[in-house]
Amino acid sequence: MSELMVPPARLRGHLRPPPDKSVSHRSALLGAIASGTTVVRNFLRAADTLATVRCLQTLGVEAELEGDALRVRGRGLRGFLPPKRVLDVGNSGTTMRLLCGLLSQHPFEATLDGDDSIRRRPMDRVIRPLCAMGAWFEARLDRFAPLRIRGGVLRPIRYALPVASAQVKSAVLLAGLVAEGRTAVIEPQTSRDHTERLLRAMGVPVETAGLEISVVGPAQPRAVELTVPGDLSSAAFFLVAAAAQPGAELVVEDVGLNPTRTGILDALRAMGARLEITDLREERGEPVGSVVVRGGELRGIEIRGELIPRLIDELPVLTVAAAVAEGETVIRDAAELRVKESDRIASLARNLRAVGAEVEELSDGLLIRGGQIRGGVVDSFGDHRIAMAFAVAGLLSEEGITVTNTDCIATSFPGFEQVLRSLCGT
Ligand code: S3P
Repeated sequence: MSELMVPPARLRGHLRPPPDKSVSHRSALLGAIASGTTVVRNFLRAADTLATVRCLQTLGVEAELEGDALRVRGRGLRGFLPPKRVLDVGNSGTTMRLLCGLLSQHPFEATLDGDDSIRRRPMDRVIRPLCAMGAWFEARLDRFAPLRIRGGVLRPIRYALPVASAQVKSAVLLAGLVAEGRTAVIEPQTSRDHTERLLRAMGVPVETAGLEISVVGPAQPRAVELTVPGDLSSAAFFLVAAAAQPGAELVVEDVGLNPTRTGILDALRAMGARLEITDLREERGEPVGSVVVRGGELRGIEIRGELIPRLIDELPVLTVAAAVAEGETVIRDAAELRVKESDRIASLARNLRAVGAEVEELSDGLLIRGGQIRGGVVDSFGDHRIAMAFAVAGLLSEEGITVTNTDCIATSFPGFEQVLRSLCGT
């Protein structure tokens, strides 16, 4: 099991972040049910997205990776073949939940499973609406993987999501592609909308009216060629570290700037960070650009409400910025963090304390009193974003930080360590 030792250091330079994980998953999954061959350039080669490709191959989809390009020969709606083995999603919640939507279209039985972390994550949030549409599920304790699923003839529903979740929204909309009539989801707050944007780019009209999103089935996506933007969630580790270090300067290039994902930039600005967006353009309906950040002193803020889904994956690294900021940072309405790759509220509270920060664990968030990060040894809890957040915390610390159990970083950001070393010249 690997570990990462990160001494205090200042960041400087240019970063091209790895390809966006959410967009990579969706381009493979939608390519698989499209008519024609989808070509995805700059596809993320990481454990999570490769799990998606392997699951699709097990379902009879021809999908090949050549360099960083993925070619997917679409099988059309209801075109998957019954799998001869268990569909193993590894650590990837997105793979499991979005595949449930697609498998609901198919009249055969399949079993979905993954690692220990995935077996602890709630799947009833997709099971419930998909059963209401006519799919059949069997799950451990009615909510955990392994899942058995059998789809069939689906009916459209209008479903109010109990939590803001792009994965659940996507699963229902994908199932809705084969249901005769309008399938609608109503979100409590807006979550990332990559599925909607890619469906539109593939010729499927998706209607968004406030918090209600709908498709009218049957609707067959058509293959496209696209280039995946850089992942703002991966870039965030370095953006946050640079923003919090007086004298640091970082340019992040070709990064996705979808407004449902840019809560991190809003939060950093509110903390006093100096950020500039340049070179803004669009790639298949997704805004892309560069972000320039110059480091300085940050101040604590309150992060809650509808901002939360727009920065949900960046909260781990934001707590690191909060630990070195002036004053208090309060994070509320973020109970979803408890059901991510680890219980992130508990993992963060434990690790922040271990490196000398002052923190209080709340049921739905954290309260962090800014000051200094001393340093020390922390565990990743098998969670890639906890591992990377505390690696960059090492840069901001007085004595350096060792993160143990860092193999998990490969789920979203292989090459993280090399990027870290090159940006701080060590
Ligand atoms: C994702 C959606 C988010 C996010 C996850 C990726 C996606 O989860 O935390 O890392 O690609 O749809 P929820 O949809 O469960 O909030």
